[in-house]
Amino acid sequence: MRNLTRVLLYAFLLLACTSLHALPTAPETRIYGVVTDTSGKPIRGAMIGATRNKELTARFSQADGKYELKLPAGAYDVKVKAFGYLNKSVTASASKSGVTNFQLTPGLRMDQLSGADVEQLLPVNPEVHLIAAECIRCHSMTHMARGGSMTAETWKKLLPRMTDGRHWDDPYSGGEFKGSGTPPVDQKQRLDVLAHNLEKYFGPDSPYFSPNVEPPKLTDFKHVPPSDQVLHSTMHEFDIPTKDVGAHSIMTDKDGNAWFSEIQAYGNKIGKFDRKSKTFIEYSLPIADSRPHTGAFCPDGMLWMPLTAQSIHAKLLSLDPRNGEMHTYDFPGNPVRPHAIACDKEGNIWTSGTGFLFFDTHTHQFKEIKLPIPSGTDYPDATWMEWHNLPGERLPVDKTIYDVKIDSKGMVWTSIETIGWLFRYNPKTGDIKSFVPPNTVSIKSIEVDSDDNVWFAEFWGSFIGKYDQKADKFTEYTPPTPLAMIYGLTADKKNGYIWGTDLNGNHMTRLDPKTGQFDEVPFWTPQASARFPGWDPLTGRVWFTEALADKIGYVEFDPDYK
Ligand code: HEC
Repeated sequence: MRNLTRVLLYAFLLLACTSLHALPTAPETRIYGVVTDTSGKPIRGAMIGATRNKELTARFSQADGKYELKLPAGAYDVKVKAFGYLNKSVTASASKSGVTNFQLTPGLRMDQLSGADVEQLLPVNPEVHLIAAECIRCHSMTHMARGGSMTAETWKKLLPRMTDGRHWDDPYSGGEFKGSGTPPVDQKQRLDVLAHNLEKYFGPDSPYFSPNVEPPKLTDFKHVPPSDQVLHSTMHEFDIPTKDVGAHSIMTDKDGNAWFSEIQAYGNKIGKFDRKSKTFIEYSLPIADSRPHTGAFCPDGMLWMPLTAQSIHAKLLSLDPRNGEMHTYDFPGNPVRPHAIACDKEGNIWTSGTGFLFFDTHTHQFKEIKLPIPSGTDYPDATWMEWHNLPGERLPVDKTIYDVKIDSKGMVWTSIETIGWLFRYNPKTGDIKSFVPPNTVSIKSIEVDSDDNVWFAEFWGSFIGKYDQKADKFTEYTPPTPLAMIYGLTADKKNGYIWGTDLNGNHMTRLDPKTGQFDEVPFWTPQASARFPGWDPLTGRVWFTEALADKIGYVEFDPDYK
């Protein structure tokens, strides 16, 4: 019997090998060349993007200015971008491969600047903190820098119609608040103060962002060049078929297909990107404007999604990836709105949000667990909570629980964004332990790696934190880009890397915890506003969403480059 199996195995292998050999090599378009400046000097780290059928592939020029893109056969539009130079593009005329050289003219355009660049020009004070705390919730300060020269009165008119219903909350519209967070306390007064601060830093008398003054110079910025590793990476971006959907959080199924939530009212769907056919399917949700946020796959392959909208009854939705069948679940009488979820080994759900919930996926029963989150106004000044206060104001702590993750021992970890705390909940004993990591202003996403270290995204404090459970020790890792703001985290559980979406610096940021080295891969799209990423164990790809650009994509490093 053993021998027979072996013979069959050999036969199979032989067959597999021959058929592989017999495969014709797929036709390929190879676009390559050199990127130089107008004097002929090579430009290192320019990003060269080739687009075809709403799919973009981008790579980087090396130290000698050379680049190369190997793509499926076809005609591509090729564009090159480099910080401090004006963009250049060529439209592919035919499907022929060949040399495409670029000569770039030095220059700095405001739309090249990331939020991290813009903020480097601003002072650090409570006025700027208020703008940051209010506005970088959704997008970086590039939006403000671009507008140019608006007075407080104009800001007051713009902000209420800014999102135009495109976003999951409309903070300054003055209409009924439908968001997922705590409603702002006094909208009108808040708008007055914000408008005043915006005029001061971005208005006609702004020292930097007004047409009345010299535009900023290249030397005004510490813009970190890409690392050598980044020069050996590829960015892929795909346009989502529907517009203004607010692609928020992304995760992969066991076949490496990417699934993402479309949180905005115009979206209200769950999107699937099929890895092999490169096509999208969008599943419309059964409840209007239900705001799906950060979901998770359970061990049985079901996709679970929290529904964050305030005005609806259901809290959770399950989607069967095999047939698209959906069900929603409610906890009657319970006012908690979920935010992110995690699925434990038993296939049950834990949710963060305006409360901490457990959902038994077998009995469909919810349970609420109270966490001892401090209330009242006694919190440190260096917290995101404090940044929100208008002059003379002291808001009570917003107790929203931001993220939730489960470690290998079944401990459930949660984060409090406003004051930067962590909680560990033991489902077996009910024990709850709180952690106040040093120097945290706020914590957004958390992640647990394969050694049970708990990682946290210190969004407003511009670092990634690690809590080593075994050594009971906190470590901080600060990305090279000043004012980088890491929104979401995902752990590459095979190679030990920690990945974060840098909303402010506009990067997919990779940290090697062994060496402390960061590799910041720029998004092709400016102000991509990437949220919760997802590492795919099958392909090694790290997927991201671009919440304001209606795209998803992934980044990968060349496997043979170390
Ligand atoms: C709830 C999410 C959200 C918040 C908070 C937010 N914005 Fe926006 N903002 C948007 C969206 C959505 C758009 C439109 C999409 C885009 O242009 O990227 C936008 C666009 C803008 C624009 C461009 C408007 C235009 O017509 O070109 C400016 C300027 C702007 N925001 C400023 C601000 C300022 C200042 C704040 C803080 C006081 C702020 N935003 C807070 C979501 C938000």
